Amino acid sequence: MQTDLSRIALRPFRLSDADDVLSFGGDDQVTRVLRGFKTLTTKDEALNFIKNVCSPHPWRRSICIDDRSIGFVTMFPGSGDDRHKADTGYALAARYWGQGITTKAVKTALSQVFKDYPDLQSFVAVENKASQRVLDKVGFQREGVLRKYLYLKGDIKDMVVYSFLSSDLSNDLSSDELITHPSSRDEGRP
Ligand SMILES: CC(C)(COP(=O)(O)OP(=O)(O)OC[C@H]1O[C@@H](n2cnc3c(N)ncnc32)[C@H](O)[C@@H]1OP(=O)(O)O)[C@@H](O)C(=O)NCCC(=O)NCCS
Repeated sequence: MQTDLSRIALRPFRLSDADDVLSFGGDDQVTRVLRGFKTLTTKDEALNFIKNVCSPHPWRRSICIDDRSIGFVTMFPGSGDDRHKADTGYALAARYWGQGITTKAVKTALSQVFKDYPDLQSFVAVENKASQRVLDKVGFQREGVLRKYLYLKGDIKDMVVYSFLSSDLSNDLSSDELITHPSSRDEGRP
């Protein structure tokens, strides 16, 4: 059944999300492409993940449906001379895939972080077509492929690098409408 996207919202994680976080964070389908994310096996691990990873993080939000956690969007800010930019990451519980939920969540995240992180980038394994499609739909620009760029769960991977620069937007950054329809970038999508 198609989810009504008006039920989707972002908020910080809470300890009470532990069962829901274990549900998607304990699923290898979701975690096998997440760098540095060890698949969760117990509720205690989920609680520790929320306490030690999510809560102190500069910008990690729970993707929620009716306030229940079903995934996350993360902006990893750069530091020093790289502080203008952030790396964008996300994941969603498998039972909700293919309904546009992550695309909506990332668009919402962009509208919230652009003032702090005007230059966003994202790195996606070449074989992760669903994730590339999300970035295409949001309006990220595909920059190219970095060959044998990093280790992901024990394998060295070619990574597609994407960017979304606030300077590419022509009007008021606070407008959700602009984030939803970011210039003409989406026209050339596959
Ligand atoms: C990537 C992920 C977040 C996408 O979430 P989602 O909510 O299903 O994404 P959306 O529904 O917004 O968009 C997915 C798009 O990819 C497309 N897609 C899915 N599988 C695909 C494939 N194998 N090849 C090409 N396109 C594919 C869908 O058809 C959809 O495009 P459409 O709307 O044009 O039909 C989800 O699959 C996930 O959590 N994967 C594991 C974690 C992950 O990969 N995180 C990103 C790491 S870079």
